[in-house]
Amino acid sequence: MSDKAVILSGIDLSLGRGPSRVHVLRGIALDVAKGEAVGLVGPSGSGKSTLLMVMAGLERPDSGRITVAGTDLGGLDEDALARFRGRNIGIVFQAFHLVPTMTALENVALPLELADAPDAQARAAAELDAVGLGHRLHHYPAQLSGGEQQRVAVARALAPNPAILVADEPTGNLDEATGRGIVDLLFTLKRERGATLVLVTHDPGLARLCDRTVRLRAGRVEEPVAA
Ligand SMILES: Nc1ncnc2c1ncn2[C@@H]1O[C@H](COP(=O)(O)OP(=O)(O)O)[C@@H](O)[C@H]1O
Ligand SMILES: [Mg+2]
Repeated sequence: MSDKAVILSGIDLSLGRGPSRVHVLRGIALDVAKGEAVGLVGPSGSGKSTLLMVMAGLERPDSGRITVAGTDLGGLDEDALARFRGRNIGIVFQAFHLVPTMTALENVALPLELADAPDAQARAAAELDAVGLGHRLHHYPAQLSGGEQQRVAVARALAPNPAILVADEPTGNLDEATGRGIVDLLFTLKRERGATLVLVTHDPGLARLCDRTVRLRAGRVEEPVAA
């Protein structure tokens, strides 16, 4: 067994068509150890979100190799990749991305049901309890505050006990105090479950909580400058 949760090598990706085509990721190589928390930083437009999507199996690179939890994602067809994502990768977005027509409980149960977990509802309720929302199970996203919605999103991401958790500016839409609560929650749950975390952030305080920071610039990993 490898001690790596994520191995990226030679990742290249261009997005868009014709004149709007952009070479977004350029020869990215990056390993993330199991249980590690990596902060992904860099200027706006440097490719952070795109790299996270590649890591999460939501975007396929033009070339290069991605191994997550020992599985080469390039070897999976679309159905297998979707199944793999559901069981192994939890994703938290800046804008929460909850299903508006589903209650908090239904949102969190969804990935468990897709993974054929027999006790999806009970587990979803326990996950919501773990993020402090045991009293909001039957609320719809529009009936919840931004911080509460992000707690639901964290519960949903962690419910299947994924090997890796990726979060794209998870506090970007929240005020400072609420954001701090989400960060505490993310790191606490990550630690409790031994998950690996890759976190995009603009917040230096948040980046410092990570074991290591990786800086992107114009689609490349910037080599750390020796102190
Ligand atoms: N679908 C797309 N088509 C064309 N260009 C894109 C697309 N998605 C992202 N880009 C470009 O790729 C670059 C990196 O985007 P992104 O990964 O969102 O950066 P970051 O998250 O670091 O701000 C940007 O210049 C952006 O305009
Ligand atoms: Mg981004």
